Amino acid sequence: MSTSAVLNNAARILKLVQTGTPADQALRDSLTQDRHFTAPAERRGISRAVFTYFRWWRWLGERDSLQKQLTAALELQARFDKNPAGFKTEALAARAVPDWLKAEMDDIPPSWLPQLQRDPPLWIRAKAGTGVELVKKLSHFTPAPQSADALRYSGLTDLYRTKEFQAGEFEIQDLASQLVSLACAPQPGETWWDACAGEGGKTMHLSDLMQNKGLIWASDRSLRRLAKLKERAARAKVFNFRAAPWEGDAKLPTKTKFDGILIDAPCTGVGTWQRNPHARWTTTPKDVGELAAVQAKLLSNVAGSLKPGGRLVYSVCTLTRAETTGVATAFTAAHPELAPVSAQTLWPHELDANGMFIATWRRK
Ligand SMILES: C[S@@+](CC[C@H](N)C(=O)[O-])C[C@H]1O[C@@H](n2cnc3c(N)ncnc32)[C@H](O)[C@@H]1O
Repeated sequence: MSTSAVLNNAARILKLVQTGTPADQALRDSLTQDRHFTAPAERRGISRAVFTYFRWWRWLGERDSLQKQLTAALELQARFDKNPAGFKTEALAARAVPDWLKAEMDDIPPSWLPQLQRDPPLWIRAKAGTGVELVKKLSHFTPAPQSADALRYSGLTDLYRTKEFQAGEFEIQDLASQLVSLACAPQPGETWWDACAGEGGKTMHLSDLMQNKGLIWASDRSLRRLAKLKERAARAKVFNFRAAPWEGDAKLPTKTKFDGILIDAPCTGVGTWQRNPHARWTTTPKDVGELAAVQAKLLSNVAGSLKPGGRLVYSVCTLTRAETTGVATAFTAAHPELAPVSAQTLWPHELDANGMFIATWRRK
């Protein structure tokens, strides 16, 4: 596909985004439905152009045609990749993130800003204990210092089409997400509740760490996501789970008491802004406040379902004060029956992955 065809297709998708569709969804919808874009390289080129546009959006001339803006964004990206130091911290702070962010974060580390302007890394999770083997079998994989089963992929093959993926030998999962399940440290035979299970990324990892023994209740308010979870679990041969809808309210899906509960809560996703730069320009401080209230409600609704000694893990892929330390501190104060164990922020520039906040408690 020629450069101008890539730009025209990217501009077509940007027009969809202008009508209110989030960029990642517009890309998914157009590129999977349109049979013209079957070649992975073509899909990659169009996605990259769209994401690059939003990464450099505040540098672009808004009166220029979309094609011209896309060209300028790709040129800025090339210039940045060659010499990141050529872009001053002040310029990045003023243009790479929205103005409201400063008031919502304790600190904006200067090294985080250039990280936001890079193409995001791709991480996979090998089945527990098989990372070393997979590195030998497939090329372009490098293990993370934090886990031999978390592998960074630098190749160009469409991993979904590999026979290893089809056989359930690995999942595409960001390193920060993998560190959440590792922080849960579930044991074989335990009973866990993955209360915001979504499409099951962490349910499947928890199951793997439990060697498929014991039981995981996987709940979510979205039936569509739970259906996808079941499909993914079948491919990955994950059997020790029970999917149940839950609205997040006081009416719980079960009276079971758990060894561990994971609340991987809905959040503003500031930690994913490298991967999904369009969200920088659609997320608002109002979202921060509303989601912090949802997160607090989810935590307090599950707190009574822990066995004595049971662990509660709270994770959000965001970095705002209200949704991280704000929620955790208020929850600790309101629940003296739970002892705080740890709270940590995983930074994208330190991990080369999404940003994540993880807090844990233990029932006394
Ligand atoms: C961060 S995502 C979970 C991702 C998932 N744990 C994974 O690893 O793939 C948050 C999930 O919370 C769900 N959710 C949002 N509001 C909720 C609520 N009030 N009660 C229960 N689930 C909710 C969303 O449907 C979404 O699937």
